[in-house]
Amino acid sequence: MAEPSAGRAWKGADRYLEDTGLNITATAGSIAAYRAAVSLVNQSFIDDPYAALFARDTCPSKLEETVKLEPPKLARIAVRTKFFDKLIFEAVHELGIKQVVLIGAGFDARALRGRDFRWAEVPPSTPRELMDGQRLTIWELDLPEIINKKNSILRRAGMDSHMARSMKLPLTFRIGVDVMVEDWMSVLKRYGFQSQYPSCFLLEGFLYYFVEDDVQRIMTQISNVTAPGSRIGLSAVSAAAATNGSRWQWGTDSPARFLETWGWTDVAEQELGNPEIAEGWDLSYVSPNGTSPRDDFNVKRTWYVTAKKPLPPAKAHEKMKNKILEFWEKARPWALKVAAILGVGRT
Ligand SMILES: C[S@@+](CC[C@H](N)C(=O)[O-])C[C@H]1O[C@@H](n2cnc3c(N)ncnc32)[C@H](O)[C@@H]1O
Repeated sequence: MAEPSAGRAWKGADRYLEDTGLNITATAGSIAAYRAAVSLVNQSFIDDPYAALFARDTCPSKLEETVKLEPPKLARIAVRTKFFDKLIFEAVHELGIKQVVLIGAGFDARALRGRDFRWAEVPPSTPRELMDGQRLTIWELDLPEIINKKNSILRRAGMDSHMARSMKLPLTFRIGVDVMVEDWMSVLKRYGFQSQYPSCFLLEGFLYYFVEDDVQRIMTQISNVTAPGSRIGLSAVSAAAATNGSRWQWGTDSPARFLETWGWTDVAEQELGNPEIAEGWDLSYVSPNGTSPRDDFNVKRTWYVTAKKPLPPAKAHEKMKNKILEFWEKARPWALKVAAILGVGRT
């Protein structure tokens, strides 16, 4: 079994850079560069015109380098983006969830990707929902440095709240907050988040930068404010990928067990390398051996995971009603046959 990383608790981005050599805020630009390249290679797969804008401003040489990469080298971010796009698309379009929270949002532009998310087609809130303050809203949380940069790049591109409204994009709050040290839940609630309604939380490219205690704390906070019917998505690595000397500090060999600790169910865990989620991308570069047996704990894996917060069990009278309906469903054909034989209902 691999040795877990010695681990350094979060003490801010500057200290993180000193301790680990990783500039955590710079990762936002690099990921944007990859999304820009994916959009360039296959716009019908991911249409993120903002990614290039963010990357050009924050890491121009990385962007230049990334757009020249062969498609297999882009597969990780292509597959990951699509996997979590689907989570959010389903949450909003199929389950009617109106609250989406992106933790460590970086330069995520889902709120602006109108073509991919068909934001304009989301049915408007009902009068009842509006009365309850429920309208489709996305909260993007990241360190102030990133949020300030993101806002200024978008402003320069003419994408302000008026433009967003005229393009029928969701209401979006970009909030600069250090979620590891600040009371981000209170901030979120001040910006209109309502914990009594279902929500969809996404931690994409985020958790593995933190030590176990920090990961546990943020998961507890999220799990405490997510109503039944909520969804969660996260990316993670295996414990072997977060050993000493790695840039990752936290990993898990069982995302399902990890999420079930906080009452999440129906965990769908996919390993990068599984052709089921490849969506046509060649994974031979990012996952040369495909997937390995689950009990091989020395394998460095990447997980993409989703889960649900279960609805409370039906109340007693609802259970009884369902039983009667179920019984009637089964008995109906026989009852109709008997009625026909007896001539009941014949005129
Ligand atoms: C690898 S990037 C992922 C960005 C985005 N989720 C994506 O997939 O494009 C990690 C992000 O986490 C943010 N982050 C790191 N520590 C944070 C903290 N303590 N509070 C809020 N955001 C943080 C970084 O600034 C960075 O934008």
